[in-house]
Amino acid sequence: MTADRITPAALSAMDQAAFTACLGDIYEHSPWVAERAWAARPYADRAALQQAMAGVLAAASRAEKLALIRAHPELAGKAAIRGELTADSRREQAGAGLDQCSAEEFAALTRLNQAYGVRFGFPFVIAVRGLGRQEIIAALERRLAHAPEQEFAEALVQIDRIAAFRLEAKIADP
Ligand code: GUN
Repeated sequence: MTADRITPAALSAMDQAAFTACLGDIYEHSPWVAERAWAARPYADRAALQQAMAGVLAAASRAEKLALIRAHPELAGKAAIRGELTADSRREQAGAGLDQCSAEEFAALTRLNQAYGVRFGFPFVIAVRGLGRQEIIAALERRLAHAPEQEFAEALVQIDRIAAFRLEAKIADP
């Protein structure tokens, strides 16, 4: 993966379609973030690109933000079991060991994911890099107690973190 990372300079030279094709999966099922970030080229480094994409998300409408949160699959959820995840999501979930849950862990995640979805109207999203299954379950339990607005904002923070990790894997610096 590291070998074929794209440089910010090469990215900045692309037309909008190529740029969007390259970065369309940084935000889950939401190529519009890349599409809008194209306008602010050139990008000197990965951090500038990351900030611009986060800025696009911050400036998006509430409906767009909600749709982006809802575009995320549940962790260890039905899509994961059916093998319907995006490549990035599959890698992230496997990296946290979520494809190897014990029966108890799976039951806890299923129950908490369900309660979370009912309470907030969108799936639990967390940047799982560096976290183990128990930490993820604990975070889910903790965040279930949040107020809806607090959790909407938290989901977007986590989504920007996921995007930063995905950019790190895809874009050279500089
Ligand atoms: N954290 C990292 N990747 C994902 C994902 O695909 N879904 C959710 N819910 N959280 C994530």
